[in-house]
Amino acid sequence: MSGKLVCVDDYEKYAASVLPKNTLEFYKGGAGEETTLIDNKRAFLRYKLRPRFLRDVSKRDLSTAVLEEKISFPVGISPVAMQKLASPEGEQASVRAAESVNTIFILSTAANSSIEEVAKAAPKCIKWFQLYIFKDRSVTKNLIQRAEKAGFKAIVVTIDTPVFGLRRANMRNQLISSKDPPYKNFDDQGMNTIDDKAGGLAAYVNKLFDDSLKWEDIAWLKTITTLPIILKGVMTAEDAILSVHAKVDGILVSNHGARQLDGTFATIDVLEEIVKAVDNKIEVYLDGGIRDGTDVFKALALGAKMVFMGRPALWGLVHDGEEGVKKVLNIVKHELDTALALCGCCDIGDIRRDMVAKQCCQSK
Ligand code: FNR
Repeated sequence: MSGKLVCVDDYEKYAASVLPKNTLEFYKGGAGEETTLIDNKRAFLRYKLRPRFLRDVSKRDLSTAVLEEKISFPVGISPVAMQKLASPEGEQASVRAAESVNTIFILSTAANSSIEEVAKAAPKCIKWFQLYIFKDRSVTKNLIQRAEKAGFKAIVVTIDTPVFGLRRANMRNQLISSKDPPYKNFDDQGMNTIDDKAGGLAAYVNKLFDDSLKWEDIAWLKTITTLPIILKGVMTAEDAILSVHAKVDGILVSNHGARQLDGTFATIDVLEEIVKAVDNKIEVYLDGGIRDGTDVFKALALGAKMVFMGRPALWGLVHDGEEGVKKVLNIVKHELDTALALCGCCDIGDIRRDMVAKQCCQSK
């Protein structure tokens, strides 16, 4: 690809032109027919901005506070497995990028860099640890204790993966195999190997992750850590209310980047019902389909405290490691700043619900 890369889509096109087919399909793909994958992005088009003018936007500030930590702008990095397939330093490059722009980085349980390596790479970054709950509860407990010791600031429990989603590209070709970089969080536990003959990644997940999880298990988690708990994968008002009852500290509205259950709503379409159900009792975040600063603006107007991006950070990582992730974050930051100014806002608190309206008929 020639020319300057000026938006997330440019980085995606670049990544698509250089990544091996298997890696690209693993990163890019979704579950089933991929209807939700398409909709996660497209749904943002149905929300239109209602700009206000003549409001003196000469001094602007994108900073905000999340779980009482100040960040420079409300866009962080979602937990994404296997980042060394994108670049040799993987998660360590991504976390350094997040540190340099002062935002939040969420480390996946299934990372190619360990909790300790990531902590060492970016000691000042606000890091959250994404937890899959294993059938073997001592594994779960050990991961939480390591994250606490390494200075992580919250545990993000992914609740949408009792079983592995049916990702057709994975099923056709073994996208992740024993030849790929290992899951570094399990170096000493004999759990970092994928058995290609036994069904690869999907079988690995289905064997180890606990598909009997219940709300009581969230209560158990609260007894073994003092860190804030965020539930990732809430998609309905009903589960949002149960999250409040469970006394967690936040929820991340997410459909796992459309990789689990095809046919769900796009995350932006369920955000408002969840925000209303939660009624300001806990913080609400969103990921899925954010590709542009105006997407961020729309999510904030509909009540999200901050948003996260998964694939866009990967595309930056493929381009030039830490620098690439930084560039992607800064592009979206600049786009958000521009959206703020053009909608008549000076800071995040100025973004109002009535600056976004949903169009009844799809335009594209
Ligand atoms: C993910 N996601 C994910 N989520 C999670 O809780 N644990 C994980 O290990 C992973 N791994 C993972 C790998 C890859 C390749 C992708 C693309 C995604 C989901 C991720 O955290 C996030 O919810 C979505 O990526 C958000 O959607 P966008 O921003 O990619 O559209």
